[in-house]
Amino acid sequence: MKKKTLSDISIQGKRVLMRVDFNVPLDEQKKITDDKRIVESLPSIRKILEGGGRLILMSHLGRPKGKVNPEFSLAPVAARLSELIDAPVKMAKDCIGNEVMQQVLEMQDGDVILLENLRFHPEEEANDPDFSKELASLGEVYVNDAFGTAHRAHASTEGITHYVQTAVAGFLIERELMYLGKALEEPKRPFVAILGGSKISGKIDVLENLFNKVDTVLIGGAMIFTFFKAQGHAVGNSLVEDSKTDLALSLLEQAKKRGIRLLLPEDVMVAPEISAGASCHPESIGAISDGLIGVDIGPKTVETYSREILGAKTVLWNGPMGVFEIDNFATGTFAVAKALAEATGKGATTIVGGGDSAAAIAKAGLAGEITHISTGGGASLEFLEGKDLPGISALND
Ligand code: 3PG
Repeated sequence: MKKKTLSDISIQGKRVLMRVDFNVPLDEQKKITDDKRIVESLPSIRKILEGGGRLILMSHLGRPKGKVNPEFSLAPVAARLSELIDAPVKMAKDCIGNEVMQQVLEMQDGDVILLENLRFHPEEEANDPDFSKELASLGEVYVNDAFGTAHRAHASTEGITHYVQTAVAGFLIERELMYLGKALEEPKRPFVAILGGSKISGKIDVLENLFNKVDTVLIGGAMIFTFFKAQGHAVGNSLVEDSKTDLALSLLEQAKKRGIRLLLPEDVMVAPEISAGASCHPESIGAISDGLIGVDIGPKTVETYSREILGAKTVLWNGPMGVFEIDNFATGTFAVAKALAEATGKGATTIVGGGDSAAAIAKAGLAGEITHISTGGGASLEFLEGKDLPGISALND
């Protein structure tokens, strides 16, 4: 990585302002249901505290649309972080203003403050210069470790870098770039990518970028039905993007020209409706019955895809194979998760590109058996598309 990191700066006695992505899922009782993003920030947090810094953390949580809304308070995160580091974490009432400034000026070495949700101010997402400047004035050095938000040019990620001298990457960003970057730049081969999700339109840029890197692409999720419809197969009532059928054919053509094996399912699981109570059964491609909806990849496809994954040295997975949130329709997605775990055991580098696939791996209880699970949903997708991440580009070279 050509960016400076936390290892390159002196922290002792300094107010270190660190942007993290503590946008974690909460249940109705405001209990954190997955603390991965907090846990993954601990290496940077520990480095700053052990180095004698005064740590000021800032993050967004959810989308409160620029208004103060207690529903989106970061207080539950402060409590969880305090448990994880076994030290007090002071929760600030706001992220800017006199009271916050006073609090940070009174900090001692090793203290931790978590600022309240940045998105309670519309200026955060608007990347407002005055707001960026006010945030910047809280710290003496700035660290960005919010990989999950690196694709957003917001005040606390991009704007702020114009008002600080020292703007470096934290260890989570460093780790994310190492795994995702290495997979794309110097993968051990065979390199297999598994792409799922409901729409081709959401994955077209990733597919085109991956065509320059991978040996094989396995496609799953509802986007397969746009390919099948384009090829003239019956798809029942499955989800199809009618405006993308030409694009689907051109992607198949491109893959062929470049010598990339692009595999589509041989069979799918079909159901009369997408609901928890609905039963499903396998049908072959080309023989999907009228009125039925494709909800998962079928058993023959699971076998083929698992074999491909187990034969790979690098595996990258983004997007579920079916409607895995419903137990009946989760078999294909979980089978892919299991194949990734097995491939890791055989020495392959396995990388999961955040979002739904990360949730599926966690649900399958296999999170510990994958080389790297990205903390970024949108951010990892944009990275895989080859796009610039403004929160990272803005840091010191
Ligand atoms: C995420 O969860 O993907 C990040 O925290 C970014 O959130 P956003 O999509 O609301 O900007």
